[in-house]
Amino acid sequence: MKKNSNSNYESTLLENFTYATFPQRVLFGAGRLSELRAEIDVLGFTRPLLISTPRQRPLAEMVSVILGAQRVAGIFDRAAMHVPLELVREACALVKRIGADGLITIGGGSTIGLGKAIARELGIPTVAIPTTYSGSEMTAIYGITEAGIKKTGTDPKVLPRTVLYDADLTLELPIDISITSALNAIAHGAEGLYAKNRNPVTNIMAEAGIAALARAIPKFRKNDGNFCSTGEMRVARSDALYGAWLCGGVLGSVTMALHHKLCHTLGGSFNLPHAEVHSVILPHALAYNAEAAPEAMEIIARAIGSESAPAGIYDLASKNGAPTSLRDIGMHESNLSLACELVLSNQYPNPRRLEAEPIHRLLRDAFEGNAPSPTT
Ligand SMILES: NC(=O)c1ccc[n+]([C@@H]2O[C@H](COP(=O)([O-])OP(=O)(O)OC[C@H]3O[C@@H](n4cnc5c(N)ncnc54)[C@H](O)[C@@H]3O)[C@@H](O)[C@H]2O)c1
Repeated sequence: MKKNSNSNYESTLLENFTYATFPQRVLFGAGRLSELRAEIDVLGFTRPLLISTPRQRPLAEMVSVILGAQRVAGIFDRAAMHVPLELVREACALVKRIGADGLITIGGGSTIGLGKAIARELGIPTVAIPTTYSGSEMTAIYGITEAGIKKTGTDPKVLPRTVLYDADLTLELPIDISITSALNAIAHGAEGLYAKNRNPVTNIMAEAGIAALARAIPKFRKNDGNFCSTGEMRVARSDALYGAWLCGGVLGSVTMALHHKLCHTLGGSFNLPHAEVHSVILPHALAYNAEAAPEAMEIIARAIGSESAPAGIYDLASKNGAPTSLRDIGMHESNLSLACELVLSNQYPNPRRLEAEPIHRLLRDAFEGNAPSPTT
């Protein structure tokens, strides 16, 4: 009889870990928007409010047609970056006035974020239909901006009940946004690999997610111009959305570290664009942590097919036209010291201690657009 062998897998004692699953359904696949009606029946929505940005209103209208106009309570198409409190109040008032009993958010992290804020306020259930790779739909984290200050928190009420990933809805996502958004998603998986509370399941999700996103990014650029018609682009869109789901799941399950701390500080205090900041900072944050998190680096490098995680991510961004310099995305040189101070103002869970001189060097390299330094 042939002996089964899996000698490629070494047996080692697993470290203790805790793994929590979320009460959430995920429908994945091109064309699955057609199943939305059945899904909201399962959830018991009789009059959902659809939410989008002004630019994504045509998508919301398409969803309204699919559900049947008489089945939809209305469309709120004013979702905006950073979820301003006034908008949350306005949308909540609308939900009450029209008697909506569910929300369907169609768009990127900004739209999903508005849905979360309404869900938190009114306890109303949500379905998310993501059209970027932000991963917000997979987390119970919400953010609301009041008087210019974004406050974030965690509340299980804001987690969408169902997430419907339909790659066909992402075909129109502009190439530049697609690439920075995919790098943003890679950052969730990458930091998850050295999170203190990581576990074998999130590690598997992170590696598969990063690999899928890294496969997709070069295809986005290559197909620029005639992407809708090519089968290759549909595959790339599907890969990226799959990676966004997996890496979003990591983001929702474990604690992020230095990279996210830097991005939130730079984005929040200096008003830099969300996904672009991720694209610039990730190689440098990985270089900072490389020695302290060798296993994570090995997994990231393997997933992106490179010898080195920081250099490989830098190449992935620069070769595909994503920003690699803070200067190019609107940072003023005079703010580098303040950024460093803000990052150091409280320690943060991170494999390596946050220290002034190397963090300052990291920010300087990121500002100039230098390749990540192995000695950061
Ligand atoms: N709470 C969380 O867990 C979490 C996680 C990740 C991101 N976020 C938040 O999400 C926001 C960023 O999300 P984002 O990067 O998706 O940005 P976004 O939602 O602002 O979208 C980026 C751009 O893509 C465009 N777009 C989206 N879908 C499109 C489509 N199908 N076709 C054409 N254009 C389309 C939008 O109009 C916008 O211009 C930030 O505010 C961030 O803080 C929250």
